[in-house]
Amino acid sequence: MFTMIFACDTKGAIGKDGDLPWRQSSDLQHFKRVTMSKTIVMGRKTWDSLPKALPGRRNIVMSRSSHDDIEVLDFDAVLALGEDEEIMIIGGGEIYALFMEHTKEIHRTIVHTEVEGADTFAPSLDGEGFHLIGERHVQAGPRDEHNMTFQHWIR
Ligand SMILES: NC(=O)c1ccc[n+]([C@@H]2O[C@H](COP(=O)([O-])OP(=O)(O)OC[C@H]3O[C@@H](n4cnc5c(N)ncnc54)[C@H](OP(=O)(O)O)[C@@H]3O)[C@@H](O)[C@H]2O)c1
Repeated sequence: MFTMIFACDTKGAIGKDGDLPWRQSSDLQHFKRVTMSKTIVMGRKTWDSLPKALPGRRNIVMSRSSHDDIEVLDFDAVLALGEDEEIMIIGGGEIYALFMEHTKEIHRTIVHTEVEGADTFAPSLDGEGFHLIGERHVQAGPRDEHNMTFQHWIR
């Protein structure tokens, strides 16, 4: 089974210049809680944006080239993994689009801002058959740039 997790602005933007377009410590904590101990799958560009593998999780990278420092799997191999366990799809834009039709559950954080010059976007949930089953509004804390809303969707 596939579960997606992403944070987007009010227009669906998730990235700019190869990085996250905000500093949202509360969302990173939420991400850690939701993904801990699970298998996470990311695209090579998202991998490049991280300082190192995320601890306490099996890190899998999708790439069309081989890499020595990390486990790399192709699309079919990741699909096969999802038959036996919950796989967390953690981005970025290309990888969300690839797995959208296979995804049963989405953790979406709306970051209450509009990023100027964003270059990467999350897939739209419109018409995809997802239902909102939980929503929590959170005021920006001392290490957040914006207020946010944590949402949980299933289909
Ligand atoms: N806000 C959020 O929640 C969030 C989460 C994650 C990432 N992001 C942001 O998203 C941006 C990166 O997203 P992106 O769309 O540019 O890149 P990406 O999805 O992270 O990675 C794209 C790469 O994945 C590999 N790939 C794609 N399809 C594949 C396939 N079918 N088989 C094997 N490999 C495949 C390719 O790697 P090779 O080129 O090596 O072949 C491709 O260049 C960054 O700005 C990042 O900060 C935001």
